[in-house]
Amino acid sequence: MEFSDVVRRRRMVRNYDPARPVPPQVRERLLAHAIRAPSAGFSQGWGFLVLESEHDRERFWRAATPKTDVWTQWLVNMRTAPLIIVPHSNKDAYLDRYAQPDKGWTDRDESHWPVPYWDIDTGFASLLMLLTAVDEGLGACFFGIPPEQIPAYRGEFDVPEEFTPIGAVSVGYRAPDHRSGSLKRGRRPVDEVVHRGQWSR
Ligand SMILES: Cc1cc2nc3c(=O)[nH]c(=O)nc-3n(C[C@H](O)[C@H](O)[C@H](O)COP(=O)(O)O)c2cc1C
Repeated sequence: MEFSDVVRRRRMVRNYDPARPVPPQVRERLLAHAIRAPSAGFSQGWGFLVLESEHDRERFWRAATPKTDVWTQWLVNMRTAPLIIVPHSNKDAYLDRYAQPDKGWTDRDESHWPVPYWDIDTGFASLLMLLTAVDEGLGACFFGIPPEQIPAYRGEFDVPEEFTPIGAVSVGYRAPDHRSGSLKRGRRPVDEVVHRGQWSR
């Protein structure tokens, strides 16, 4: 597929064909592409939890999602995803990397960091997985794990304290679904969000 088509066709898919698992070679390509993402200082402070069996996916949905009506409704379709990949960021890996002689932030002071590069880099890796899914003819969705569910999620999967899930990515062959209500907002045009030469209103 042309790269521009991959970008244009990507959208969050929230319903999947439960009878079609993600082929192993596609799963591995998603992960191989994820680790091609750029990372500050080449820190690569990320970690990915892959959940494929029905048992493991159920453990994920049970631990990582609240039992509210809104979530229960949203999960009806999302639960059809045959593959869930949870990308985690590791701040300590960045503080360690930037304490090395070529960077020199031996105080490990977080005020050096203009924004949390550990989350940014893991987000880049997640986007590569979303785009790879489209390139392979599948769909995917990045969604958040509510903060109050994170302890239960960590406990269920023995995720070490230094790793924080930045969200989760569901993957599968697309089934008909409703587009997000948020899209009614419309895509903001380039001229509204791009400032050339000067930030003027
Ligand atoms: C950081 C992030 C968090 C998101 N969290 C959720 C979520 O919790 N649930 C959901 O259904 N979609 C979630 N989305 C998807 C957005 O709603 C979606 O990207 C946006 O509406 C634009 O639609 P599109 O990606 O299909 O073009 C999230 C997207 C991002 C980038």
